[in-house]
Amino acid sequence: MNSTKRNILITGGAGFIGSHVVRRIVAKYPHYNVVNLDKLTYAGNLANLTAIENASNYTFVKGDITEATFINELFEQYQFDGVIHLAAESHVDRSISNPLEFVITNVIGTVNLLNAAKKLWNANIDNAVTDKKFYHISTDEVYGSLGAEGLFTEKTAYDPHSPYSASKASSDHFVRAYFDTYKLPAVISNCSNNYGSFHFPEKLIPLAINNIKQMKPVPVYGKGENVRDWLFVEDHAAAIDLIFHEGKIGETYNIGGNNEWKNIDLIHLLCKIMDKKLNRAEGTSASLITFVKDRAGHDLRYAIDSSKLQKELGWKPSLQFEEGLEKTVEWYLTNEEWLNNVTSGNYKEYYTAQYSKR
Ligand code: NAD
Ligand code: DAU
Repeated sequence: MNSTKRNILITGGAGFIGSHVVRRIVAKYPHYNVVNLDKLTYAGNLANLTAIENASNYTFVKGDITEATFINELFEQYQFDGVIHLAAESHVDRSISNPLEFVITNVIGTVNLLNAAKKLWNANIDNAVTDKKFYHISTDEVYGSLGAEGLFTEKTAYDPHSPYSASKASSDHFVRAYFDTYKLPAVISNCSNNYGSFHFPEKLIPLAINNIKQMKPVPVYGKGENVRDWLFVEDHAAAIDLIFHEGKIGETYNIGGNNEWKNIDLIHLLCKIMDKKLNRAEGTSASLITFVKDRAGHDLRYAIDSSKLQKELGWKPSLQFEEGLEKTVEWYLTNEEWLNNVTSGNYKEYYTAQYSKR
């Protein structure tokens, strides 16, 4: 994608990572027309986007990627040159209780977008499109679970275990199939666990911050020995910006923090930071740690080798984890209203009011 005037579709832009991407792209590329398409599920929150909601190069469209006719009409209306596709059901625990919703949104929704892009760009095996891009945002969970050693590379075979990761793996396969079969100009990235501001408090770090703040138990699954590779969300947004503009069509890029933490060690670090920030006696927050029943099929360890992205496109993470975690805690303590609205469900009223203004 070059930097001339472009119509860009970002899906899932009212969610955690999507809102960071939308804010970044809208502010950095004033000559782009950015359309943010989001269904506003429980995870979508327009309060994440107040910083850019009135920007002249930004449009919000409430809509569902699973509705094929609507998606085709949207592509026809806006003549998109590029797509950054983040919309998804994203929480592993929810996928265990309701797998079908993950198939419908993550697989069918993605295929609807691929079909609409293929049609608009007239992509087919005899017509390699080079000035458009379909960028699919995926996860390291498609690679399965590591033992004590090793890293996921772009060549690691897919081995998903949860309904969530199976649905993301399937969507990745469809994106590759559309590149191979129709020469749809697609690129994929697979990223490790993100953390930072605007993270919905059902995921480990924001849930723990919220519970510690309220002196509620902090649930740690199993023995807390599972390992995740944490990346500051703004570093992921920077990688997405870079791959969207410089990534090679047909390629996959792994994105990761080179920052592995056992859950229990991470929670202890968080407790220390929270004690300091809340002027509590050391050990107060850690006393809330409660070991609970393990997640079914809980992947032991994720760890990403992002050397391809670092070498080929020059990306690297900007923050040390301790610094990023402190910044994140500060954000949640400063943005009490956001957190209270999300946990009480009031953000739904906020966005209904906002949306009806348009
Ligand atoms: P999120 O759950 O915070 O946000 C998802 C967004 O998608 C929400 O705004 C929601 O309203 C929207 N959405 C859901 N279903 C939709 C539909 N049918 N039509 C239109 N919009 C819909 O998710 P996130 O954590 O920001 O993740 C974004 C993407 O990044 C996902 O594709 C996820 O698989 C991927 N990812 C996430 C992480 C992570 O650590 N959170 C890491 C790697 C990859
Ligand atoms: O690896 C990338 C993935 O990271 C993304 O694709 C997913 O969308 C995102 O949700 C995240 O998945 P995880 O399952 O790793 O994230 P979660 O925050 O749910 O859990 C992180 C770890 O903490 C995991 O080992 C489970 C554990 N956990 C989680 C919760 C919510 C707990 O011990 N207690 C909890 O209450």
